[in-house]
Amino acid sequence: MSRRQILVTSALPYANGPIHLGHLVEYIQTDIFARFQRLRGHRVAYVCADDTHGTAIMIRAQKEGVAPEQLVAAMATSHQRDFAAFGISFDHYGSTHSAASRAACDQIWQALRAANLVVERSVERLYDPVQRTFLADRFVVGECPRCGAKDQYGDNCEACGSTYAATELKHPRSVHSGATPELRPSRQLFVRLEPLQEFLRGWTASGVLQPEVANYLAGHFLHQPLQDWDVSRPAPYFGFEIPDEPGQYWYVWFDAPIGYIGSTAEWCARTGEPLDDWWRNDAGEIVHFLGKDITYFHTLFWPALLKVAGFRLPTRVQIHGFLRVRGEKMSKSRGTFVTAARYLQTLDPAWLRYYYASKLGPRIDDLDFVPDEFVGKVNSDLVGRVVNLASRSARLVEATGLAVRYPDDGGLFARAAALGETIAAAYEACDTKEAMRLCMGLADAANEYVEAKAPWTLKKDPARAGELQDVCTVVLNLFRQIVVYLTPVLPELAAQTGRLLGGAVDRWQQAQEPLVGTPVAPFERMMARVEVAAVQAMFEPEPTTAVAATPTPDPTDPLTREPLAAEIQLADFEKVDLRVVRIVAAEPVPEAKKLLRLQVSLGSGPPRTVFAGIKGAYAPEQLVGRLVVMVANLAPRRMKFGVSEGMVVAAGTDGEVFLLSPDAGARPGQRLH
Ligand code: 2FM
Ligand code: ZN
Repeated sequence: MSRRQILVTSALPYANGPIHLGHLVEYIQTDIFARFQRLRGHRVAYVCADDTHGTAIMIRAQKEGVAPEQLVAAMATSHQRDFAAFGISFDHYGSTHSAASRAACDQIWQALRAANLVVERSVERLYDPVQRTFLADRFVVGECPRCGAKDQYGDNCEACGSTYAATELKHPRSVHSGATPELRPSRQLFVRLEPLQEFLRGWTASGVLQPEVANYLAGHFLHQPLQDWDVSRPAPYFGFEIPDEPGQYWYVWFDAPIGYIGSTAEWCARTGEPLDDWWRNDAGEIVHFLGKDITYFHTLFWPALLKVAGFRLPTRVQIHGFLRVRGEKMSKSRGTFVTAARYLQTLDPAWLRYYYASKLGPRIDDLDFVPDEFVGKVNSDLVGRVVNLASRSARLVEATGLAVRYPDDGGLFARAAALGETIAAAYEACDTKEAMRLCMGLADAANEYVEAKAPWTLKKDPARAGELQDVCTVVLNLFRQIVVYLTPVLPELAAQTGRLLGGAVDRWQQAQEPLVGTPVAPFERMMARVEVAAVQAMFEPEPTTAVAATPTPDPTDPLTREPLAAEIQLADFEKVDLRVVRIVAAEPVPEAKKLLRLQVSLGSGPPRTVFAGIKGAYAPEQLVGRLVVMVANLAPRRMKFGVSEGMVVAAGTDGEVFLLSPDAGARPGQRLH
């Protein structure tokens, strides 16, 4: 078997949110593939990065009152911590907001220019006349052009799910100023894909894609001329400015896949590998893993860019479906949107790796997380059928070690060794479900052997010590063989097995040769059973800080007196971002009895719109210019009249309202603490 060189990638997660169980389907699937290839002795570089650019990240940073770079840095730490906890073995984890990514973008851009594939057209875009800026889709709200739902963003409708252009919204408003946007011509850059149509037809049909994906592309995109791809966005935009187009930025989906090259370049700089060996070498392989929602970016745009710039094309694009929970889409309101960090509070990452592996196949079907099935697979397959082999036999040979000659086992070891290539083929095809099924079949055969030989009874008879050692030598070898086959999925179990039997499990070939004459270390517990309650806990709201005991309330003692409202910890209070803001505009909302629409300035950035129920107490003209206090990190709320992006703090009730203002000298943007 010749040594292959394989660059492996997972899709780059957006830097605007935490890693969750849905993401982990892909990272675990990719990691199993990467570990499998390494175990087989191939050269692997598994690279990934945070996907940092675009409007969503810009909005979130603005809302949190931080620079996008700060948000991106915090997310990079949190993502990498979660990935490490789940054993995802990246060789390099970078960021699309890096010098290496920018350099790769420049290179590809120049190639597109040289091939005369960049065209410029004027398109009509929405423009905010108050803020004097073009509006990205997410900064326009209005009525859905399909179903009429109010307060929908300019790119898609959350009510009916349709997608459209921002210019199609009815009664559009700018999120920044509330003003009605105007249509103005904007210069926009496009990449022509039509000249690459024949190439893409050939490439997509060349066996690099799953058949259902190739058919989908042929039927939905490639049967008609490909449209030009809109790759620029006007400022303000968090991204890379296009070098030969000041004021224009590459659209996030232009630079995201190029991040694969950027991250590889950083890894190469670290390790001394030549980048061209990985991206311009026809002898190497490139395997991308991704979810079905981003198929066409990776199977049309991306190969087009690579082709034009002379990079090698992916040898395989492996697409998976979505994670569902008990048959339904993951949802925050149903409590089924579980972050990686939340999972780790009560559950072992190895369990999820095995559970996903036992359900993932080579096709793009969705995968369903079913709590009872999760418990069953962990407890009966992993602990009951596999780990038990070691726990029932290792202690019995701790004193003697393994027999020096491999005993007659009736052909069990040889049969399992012969299955090695079948299991390997299943891993190679990403059919881990089949690989796990085959491993569990081997575990069943080994368990039948244990039951038949009953080493615990042999143990009682000193005259049968030799027989006991032989039986345990067989059981531990069958166990180790299964562990070799499970190593891509359960690296921790492999490490424990290595410690138990005095030699690392790190090569697929180790399943071909039994181990003899080696000592057996004292047995350490390898894996616990999962408790149903721990799985349920993951779907419950996060617990708040526990209070140890409840002392008798004493109204004079600050530590025990009854609080006026539910008590919170300092950390809870610190979550509230209170800021001094200046009211720069105020107007009544004619259709609402109590509401004023305020525009408030944080000192920098565009003003925010806040609806405040203070119409009865303040005339709009009294308010303009005044400093008040606002909760700046309240999640934006969609109201009948628009999106409210914060809450102005006031005392009193509806009839009696007193706005809070800082003393003279305070400046907009200052944080209260
Ligand atoms: O869909 C997503 O989550 C994107 N951030 C994936 C980008 S993959 C690649 F192109 F960078
Ligand atoms: Zn709609």
